[in-house]
Amino acid sequence: MKNSSYTPPRLTKDKHMKKQRIAVAYSGGLDTSVIVKWLQEKYDADVITVTGNLGQKKELTGVPDKAYKTGAKKVYIQDLRDEYVEEYIFPALKAGALYEHTYPMATSLGRPLLAKSLVEIAKRERCTAVAHGCTGKGNDQVRFEAAIAALAPDLKVLAPLRDWEFKSREEEIAYCEKHNIPVSATKKNPYSIDENVWGTAIECGILEDPMVEPPADAFQCTVSPQDAPDKPTAVTIEFNQGVPVALDGKKMSGFNIIDRLNQIAGANGVGRIDLIENRLVGIKSREVYEAPAAVVLHFAHLELERLTLDKEVAHYKSKIAQDYATMIYNGLWFTPLRPALDAFVNETQKTVNGIVKLKLYKGNVDIAGRMSPNSLYDTKLATYTVEDTFDHKASEGFIKIYSLPAKTFYQVNPKGLAKKQVLKRKVKKAAAKVRRQYRGTSS
Ligand code: ARG
Repeated sequence: MKNSSYTPPRLTKDKHMKKQRIAVAYSGGLDTSVIVKWLQEKYDADVITVTGNLGQKKELTGVPDKAYKTGAKKVYIQDLRDEYVEEYIFPALKAGALYEHTYPMATSLGRPLLAKSLVEIAKRERCTAVAHGCTGKGNDQVRFEAAIAALAPDLKVLAPLRDWEFKSREEEIAYCEKHNIPVSATKKNPYSIDENVWGTAIECGILEDPMVEPPADAFQCTVSPQDAPDKPTAVTIEFNQGVPVALDGKKMSGFNIIDRLNQIAGANGVGRIDLIENRLVGIKSREVYEAPAAVVLHFAHLELERLTLDKEVAHYKSKIAQDYATMIYNGLWFTPLRPALDAFVNETQKTVNGIVKLKLYKGNVDIAGRMSPNSLYDTKLATYTVEDTFDHKASEGFIKIYSLPAKTFYQVNPKGLAKKQVLKRKVKKAAAKVRRQYRGTSS
């Protein structure tokens, strides 16, 4: 099983140290358990494990015991919940950051904070290196390593999954058995799951076929819309400068609002996302997500912005939202781009205050009402009744000048609107081809 030609990267240790010290981002799962032992063997190192609590439902109580049994010298469990919500999730929410217009990025937002926590412990424990359990084909390795490079440029990073000799889960399990490492791999989960309070990512197994509908057992925290209650659930969310501060009239911490909304919205089948997504490393992957609170809060926040943002700011901000999302997704959290974008976003959020009322019903979120002390909605301008104060006459001149460029163009190029028919025929042909192909694949 061992690959004798493998040479681990060299580590230099402090001359006062008896042994190398390596801090590992540890989840307690199979990969990171193997890493702990493997690093001890390869480097004759003392291994310190660092586990971040980002509000995942999976119990962390058993983690220290497991880490020590696996051979860890020291074990850290870091409660990062409030920092995660206040410093990572809410900036992304204020920015309206949804990767490829859809994914709220629970995993992508969690990684830089886990990396930061890992670096802090590594410095405190005078470690010569840090290690993570990301694979060589995902986004997470980039997020971890780009964050570490920014926070501790001289710290060595080890990514055992990219280098080691194990080629399958079975080989890793065999290694655990050989070294008496406790693994809970008896009931094998067919999916790879990454979870925190902002959402759950579910990959692998049958989900790798994009034509297969996710089976019921893939979902962890939402009910199927079909099984959701037959009556809608109303919720109200209050925002202060773009940040949620109260749920159903009760002031709560950001973390509690998200946690509670996950339950309420999840019970209504809200927050399931099935997405073909472009990874940073060039691969298209099929991802299934559950993010009930994230979906509801993004929806509510946008509805409040519709009421309170100036038109030009609103339109401009939607472009920034895409850039902000790409920045997070691509692991650029700890770069000068973020505070620069935050400055813009925070300026826009000064007037995003008020209450949004929503109805959650069988997988859907609907707007039921909104109000704000900063509302730009002026009934006197909008109304069709006698209360109307809008200057109708002013429209005539406005339209004349507004449409002048197009009018001029088509006067000079009268045939500019042709070619439509040819295009229609081409589209029809392409559609017929796809139908033929589909018939070929379905039995
Ligand atoms: N595709 C998502 C992302 O890159 C989710 C990745 C899930 N990661 C995992 N280790 N299971 O953010």
